[in-house]
Amino acid sequence: MEFFVKSGNPAKQRAGCVIAGVFARRKLSPAAKELDEACKGALSQAMRRGDIEGREGETVVLHGLSGLVCDRVLLVGLGRERDFSDKAYIRATEEAVRAVRKTGAVDAVSYLTDLVVRKRDRRWTVLRAAMASGALGYRFVQCKSKPDPDHSKLNRITFNVPSRSDLAEAEEALRTATALNAGMVLTRDLSNLPGNRCTPTDLANTGRELASSYRSIKTTVLDEKKMENLGMGALLSVSKGSREPATFTVMEYLQGPKKAKPVVLVGKGLTFDAGGISLKPAQAMDEMKYDMCGGAAVFGTMKAVAELGLPINLVGIVPASENLPDGMANKPGDIVTSMSGQTIEILNTDAEGRLLLCDALTYVERNYDPDCVIDMATLTGAVIVALGNHATGVFANQPALAKSLITAGDYMGDRAWELPLWDDYESALRSPFADVANVGGREAGSVTAAVFLHRFARKLRWAHLDIAGTAWTQKPKGATARPVPLLLQFLTQRLHESS
Ligand code: BES
Ligand code: MN
Ligand code: ZN
Repeated sequence: MEFFVKSGNPAKQRAGCVIAGVFARRKLSPAAKELDEACKGALSQAMRRGDIEGREGETVVLHGLSGLVCDRVLLVGLGRERDFSDKAYIRATEEAVRAVRKTGAVDAVSYLTDLVVRKRDRRWTVLRAAMASGALGYRFVQCKSKPDPDHSKLNRITFNVPSRSDLAEAEEALRTATALNAGMVLTRDLSNLPGNRCTPTDLANTGRELASSYRSIKTTVLDEKKMENLGMGALLSVSKGSREPATFTVMEYLQGPKKAKPVVLVGKGLTFDAGGISLKPAQAMDEMKYDMCGGAAVFGTMKAVAELGLPINLVGIVPASENLPDGMANKPGDIVTSMSGQTIEILNTDAEGRLLLCDALTYVERNYDPDCVIDMATLTGAVIVALGNHATGVFANQPALAKSLITAGDYMGDRAWELPLWDDYESALRSPFADVANVGGREAGSVTAAVFLHRFARKLRWAHLDIAGTAWTQKPKGATARPVPLLLQFLTQRLHESS
């Protein structure tokens, strides 16, 4: 899909489809009004006939309107004008794309991006409209021998802005959306691939491919031998129970000022999590192919940043393994020594993500002097109990960092919500035999997981994103590429704050 921006008269657009909004009670938006005047009231007439009221989510396609040079007009309901905000705008952009894709239109000009959305600027309306088009056009066909044909012919969308003075901002928004969409496609593709087609080695190869596609990215892959030399005993204990070797991919994108400390992203890369000896129930176990969504988000974010050429220093790290039951696998009660030197009693082999992440955090502490470190992981089922599928759980040892991540997510519709990292929870992880246990009790499972990680991030300005509820959906089935939008916005936001 190609995107363009312009500022022009809706009645003069030569395109397969012109898209404009209608508020509740048949109140035409400014662009729709101009169209209506040019076609001598044909839109008003359609509304009088009951084709559209202006309720949220409604759409109607009108053909062959005299006085206009486009093939069709698509009217989209916006809901009550008084209540018109983010939510109604996003809904309208999504319904618009769905409806145009059903027509034969090859190109469309949208005037939804002309609308004024409370508290949001022009960059936001264009960015979010382009993101909606990208997301709805995504199909995962890699594993079908004959991919279902995508019937839509739509391949060009032009977003209109009210004035020529908005064009520069809109162009920037499009560049961002295009890079973001590319990064999100990579994240979703990797995430949707099953365990036998996306192994730890495949993840490492993705890092290598990014380095060959972008001169700005340098990739290093640590094999198990190197990890052993570094003393990554926690990570390797998980991998021992699998025939696929673990990998540890480090990507450096250093395009910012020499002295600027890097942001480091760390993503959990469990290409399949059966639970190990603490085997998971069979029900929906296939979904544990998604247990590398954190890692996939790191790759996608690196790609989006490299596409955009942001002048920042960014490091992406993906520790990857499988977690399977096997004669060599961790057993409940086993005690392993992490890279930090802390010993860990593995009371539940299914709490494996934290065993990879803790060594990755120590690796970051030893090898970088980061501005901040953000890890992301499908870490706990408990975060789904707490927040459902709407928000990612955020934990941070610095309130400003949590706030900034939440603000970024809110801007992108990739929302996150803070949960506590209080040391009151630390007693849950006490072990009589080792420095710490890898699980707490039944209560506050997401918090105790975060508190466990915090033991390895004390010296870092650190945040942890638990994406178990947000990284994929059941309806429609598939990966969402969250939290890539949040992260890209976070990095962009930071850039503007520093300049
Ligand atoms: N990858 C899972 C978490 C998960 C479960 C994500 C279900 C999405 C849906 C993680 O490795 C895990 O198994 N966590 C355990 C921790 C428990 C043993 C303390 C969990 O959440 O049950
Ligand atoms: Mn697990
Ligand atoms: Zn897991």
